[in-house]
Amino acid sequence: IPVQPFDLIIFGGTGDLARRKILPALFRRYCAGQMEGEARVIGAARAEMSDAEYRSFAREAITEFGAYAACDAEHLDAFLTLLSYITLDARGDAGWATLAAALEGSARIRAFYFSVGPGLFGDLAARIEAHGLAAPGTRVVVEKPFGRDLASARSLNAALARHFDETQIYRIDHYLGKETVQNLMAIRFGNTLFEPLWNSQYVDHIQITVAEAGGVGSRGEYYDKSGAMRDMMQNHLMQLLCLTAMEPPAKYDPDAVRDEKLKVIRALDPGQPGDIVRGQYEAAGKGAGSQPGYLEEVGNPESTTESFVALKARIGNWRWAGTPFYLRTGKRLRARASEIAIVFKDAPHSIFGADAGQHRNILTIRLQPNEGIELGVTIKEPGPGGMRLVDVPLDMTFSEALGPEAEDVPDAYERLIMDVIRGDQTLFMRGDEVEAAWEWTDPIIEAWESAGTAPCAYATGSSGPDDALALIHRDGRRWREIR
Ligand code: BG6
Repeated sequence: IPVQPFDLIIFGGTGDLARRKILPALFRRYCAGQMEGEARVIGAARAEMSDAEYRSFAREAITEFGAYAACDAEHLDAFLTLLSYITLDARGDAGWATLAAALEGSARIRAFYFSVGPGLFGDLAARIEAHGLAAPGTRVVVEKPFGRDLASARSLNAALARHFDETQIYRIDHYLGKETVQNLMAIRFGNTLFEPLWNSQYVDHIQITVAEAGGVGSRGEYYDKSGAMRDMMQNHLMQLLCLTAMEPPAKYDPDAVRDEKLKVIRALDPGQPGDIVRGQYEAAGKGAGSQPGYLEEVGNPESTTESFVALKARIGNWRWAGTPFYLRTGKRLRARASEIAIVFKDAPHSIFGADAGQHRNILTIRLQPNEGIELGVTIKEPGPGGMRLVDVPLDMTFSEALGPEAEDVPDAYERLIMDVIRGDQTLFMRGDEVEAAWEWTDPIIEAWESAGTAPCAYATGSSGPDDALALIHRDGRRWREIR
């Protein structure tokens, strides 16, 4: 369904995110017929650039990152005519009058995308207002990291709130835009099958894994000040945890969903030092094909920043009391594999005797790659050998089940940017949610900072440090394999 005509102004329009994600996402939506020809995209940044130069910057970005079956060269030429560029200073006056003139008289939906560091959010918001560029329906989109602790998140929220109402602020967590993450809600609340069992009476524990095979690469400077806890756990894994654990919202509506997520975060028990393991990857191999270790990659031999974190979280409410959530995320692990696994309890009594062994149902929601769901069920082993049991997967890979359309899954940014234009905040974080997540995360980070302990080393291509294995083993459980 096409969205209404809009003006999208991308601050940081020449940055990495614009190049890799925003411009390719817009192009793909254009090809999909979702953007009417009247849309305008204005890149704004400090660099001097003409419209023509910006278009060729976008052409290169889209060619590199925007492949889409439904697009051809003609589409690209037509899309590029929607783009223009303004040289602008977020902290000064340069460029703002030009931007105001470009927007003057436009009745289109207006969205400002702050694809810049959080240090500029307040300046941009103030200048948008000072130059009279915002109307009540104007939207601002802000990227993570949304602060680095509770205090900084609060001041960012306050800086935005001085100029915009909460209904105008779209805080991106791109995990919420992933197709399978939304599917988590469809699976839970669109079926009668799972929800009655979705509680501590039937669920032994839940594992959430976001494993990456790549290292920090060229983002070392940012990452080393952040680490896996701030970069991934506080936001992406926390969001997955919320969607898995929340109560059914009364309707699929922004505040109904976000209220339920917030309740989960508020119900989290404080993290215990013994329930958290931090890791840092080591170098791998020698000579050609070798990979630098974390310290070398970020260029800081003294760094105690973690590239891996595993923890056990407990939710203190009726539904989840006694069912732990084990969360882990890290870089340079065995594979890029993200999943949520609901591990059900054993059958209360086995009629098949001890020989049948132990069997349990596991529902796995594979976020990436091979998006799909798998339900492990126990059946009889075929053959005359008596009543022996075996676990087999009921496996549904979405692209196989839904046909070719499901293969070209839209990138999270495509979905999220279109939601901004539609004015749908369901998949964006509310200010209080972000603050609550920091409120839980801060004491954990403070505890290890004050203890001054270094993260445990782990081998590139492994499943993380041994201590992370021990974290779950001591509860008589084991991590699922990363593959
Ligand atoms: C980003 C983090 O938010 O998410 C990165 O800053 C991480 O460090 C990335 O690599 C992972 O996203 P995805 O979509 O590739 O799983």
